[in-house]
Amino acid sequence: MKNAIIDAMLSRSSTKYYDKSATLSDEQISDLVKIGTSAPTSFHLQNWRFIAVRSPEAKARLRPIAWDQPATSEAAVTFIVVGKMADASTVPACLAPAVEAGIMPASIIPDWENPARGLYDDDVQLQRDEAIRTATFGAATIIYAARSLGWGSTPMIGFDFDAVAREFDLADNEIPVMLLSVGPERPGNWPQKPRLPVLDVLQFA
Ligand SMILES: Cc1cc2nc3c(=O)[nH]c(=O)nc-3n(C[C@H](O)[C@H](O)[C@H](O)COP(=O)(O)O)c2cc1C
Repeated sequence: MKNAIIDAMLSRSSTKYYDKSATLSDEQISDLVKIGTSAPTSFHLQNWRFIAVRSPEAKARLRPIAWDQPATSEAAVTFIVVGKMADASTVPACLAPAVEAGIMPASIIPDWENPARGLYDDDVQLQRDEAIRTATFGAATIIYAARSLGWGSTPMIGFDFDAVAREFDLADNEIPVMLLSVGPERPGNWPQKPRLPVLDVLQFA
């Protein structure tokens, strides 16, 4: 199998060395997030938010609470990928633009909201799981968009969750799921590491 999208996936690796002098414009950063939000979310909840840490001042606040990882200050931008606890009461508002666009009939909204309420309303663990799933889909989509544009990326779990939430004013229903640095690279990065043999991770049923 081969095409431009698959090439971007297969050639991606996690970037360690960024071009420290490179910047991305706010328009480029907005475009990346817009592409990221094309990812699917459960019941179309879109329970995510992206904080683009790109100013020297904000980078200086992030790096010490992110295990001093160089990417957080050397990459053009580091997104704090925020997942929001799934809230089924937001379903009608989330679907309204699809109704206005003529994609879905308005009458279908309760058919989405009611099962979402049944799923999430009394299950805090599942609300949280959904926040993680949503943010992860968004981050992955940005990663591959970045690669296709020739930029590196680094997903990072190495940070102090409480400190990031405090420093960047996350709400009580928001989780800092991942940091994601993105930007032009400098030479010296490893290529993608070999994966487990596919038959070790694939089960046909
Ligand atoms: C959820 C997640 C968290 C990660 N956290 C870090 C991190 O904190 N610092 C880092 O340098 N790399 C981090 N990585 C990158 C992984 O080490 C990397 O994806 C893995 O070694 C495979 O390498 P490759 O992406 O270059 O193929 C993380 C990756 C993921 C998916």
